[in-house]
Amino acid sequence: MTPNRPRTPRSAWRALQQQARRLSGTHLRELLSDAGRPARMTLEAGGLLADFSKQRVDDEALQTLFAMAKAARLDEARALLFAGAIMNPTEERPALHMALRGVGGSAQVAKEVAGERERIRLLARRLREGRLRGFSDLPLKHLVCIGIGGSDLGPRLVCDALAPPHPASNTPDNPHALEVRFVANVDPSDLHLALADLDPHVTGFVVVSKTFTTRETLANADAARRWLQAAGADASGAARHLIGVTANPDAAAGYGIQPDQVLRFWDWVGGRYSLWSSVGISIAASCGPDAFDALLDGAATMDRHFRDEPAQRNLPIWLGLLSIWNRNALGCASQAVIPYAERLRLLPAFLQQLIMESNGKSALLDGSRTERPTAPVIWGVSGTNAQHSFFQQLHQGPDVVPVDFIVAREPELALPPDDPRQDILIANCLAQSAALALGKPMAATAHGGSADKGKDWHKAFPGNRPSTVILLQKIDPRTLGALLAAYEHATFVASVILGINAFDQFGVEYGKVMATAVEAVLGGRDDPEIDPATRALVRRIRGMGT
Ligand code: F6P
Repeated sequence: MTPNRPRTPRSAWRALQQQARRLSGTHLRELLSDAGRPARMTLEAGGLLADFSKQRVDDEALQTLFAMAKAARLDEARALLFAGAIMNPTEERPALHMALRGVGGSAQVAKEVAGERERIRLLARRLREGRLRGFSDLPLKHLVCIGIGGSDLGPRLVCDALAPPHPASNTPDNPHALEVRFVANVDPSDLHLALADLDPHVTGFVVVSKTFTTRETLANADAARRWLQAAGADASGAARHLIGVTANPDAAAGYGIQPDQVLRFWDWVGGRYSLWSSVGISIAASCGPDAFDALLDGAATMDRHFRDEPAQRNLPIWLGLLSIWNRNALGCASQAVIPYAERLRLLPAFLQQLIMESNGKSALLDGSRTERPTAPVIWGVSGTNAQHSFFQQLHQGPDVVPVDFIVAREPELALPPDDPRQDILIANCLAQSAALALGKPMAATAHGGSADKGKDWHKAFPGNRPSTVILLQKIDPRTLGALLAAYEHATFVASVILGINAFDQFGVEYGKVMATAVEAVLGGRDDPEIDPATRALVRRIRGMGT
């Protein structure tokens, strides 16, 4: 069923702009002078605490955002999403990533998901117990995951956040200290660096590709297979080292991967929403099947919160509505995500694809062109590193960049009582959020033109720069699952308000088609379609030899 979904009425957008005008002269310093504000603007769900009090809204503006959500029939869209309606109309598909963690979808979907989750668990245990043996009949100790985009970023982030430090520690349930690595880039250096210290006899490969047609992934998989063959594996021997993860199992079989080593997922799982599926086999192998289940449980808790809570107490809805406020009311073209946690250093990259590939579009659901901005540019680096890189601009640059700060109360390891580092980390996170919001009154000096007479902008901290602080007790599978699910749902909320399809990605196709043409010209064939600039570059490159 393809629901007929309404556009957010122009009147709601006008009301939003009116709120932005009304608040344009109100500084966060003034809003934060209300002692009751933090309690009113802090929400908790799934082990996350989100403090929205340093966002540039007051109660009236918030009510306008909730009214906008109501006018956009967000409640109906939520229900349709979880019911498995066609929320991706251009590809005629539901968007049921929540069903992968047991929330939403039909009984039939739940049955298929349960079956595949059991296959993930069994394969992860087979790998961790050394029962997957290679062409020399030795247990595979290393697993190199080859995939890109949604077939890489999510699993890579979760493994980087949760996996035991390398070399993987020998734990009772991981006696072979199986370790997992990731390769995404077709740049030959990526696979080369991953394999440089590995023994082909005990190295396996997970080829992850929803379509099983992605040129970079298959080119890297070919190179990996050659690496095995160079060590003496024949075709069937090499196949023992290959696991496939795809929504196109026939293509994986055609590639030569044994059917019992192909895990599958479905076309109603978007690539950037797929880490919860068999794409997460690397997580179950690296962190253990129980950790993978806990990750999904954490996400499921956030799913139920998002599905059931009213907008006023709904953490993902606030996250999504405030992204609309910052992008469309305040005109902020980018949004920074600064995790004050080294284990979450890959979160910005994951959210770049999630948000920008979902909402970085100009087409409305009916195919007409939107008349307003859509997704912000998402970027970020872990704190405290970011402070020593670009916080100068965040504090004193002319542009306002909203920031999502994420920090955990507890470090991953027990620290001696006199080790101050976690407190230093937390203090810097909270201080940066406060400094961006409050700023500092300007010192009076002779600098500045007539309009600034007597003001010193060199040391001015204008403040009024919004941020959200998301606090976790600890980074563990459950809180991480809840955090990632919260952002998935916030992305959906923004797409509903904007009236766009969050679940297709036609924008990635043109570059791929052009790359195929340029690759042919690089190989010596001619293509009159290639533009003169590219043709000149190709000529120059071909003249440079190899
Ligand atoms: O970037 C385009 C894209 O299709 C993403 O949406 C997807 O996650 C990635 O390429 C990889 O696609 P596949 O999993 O089919 O190899």
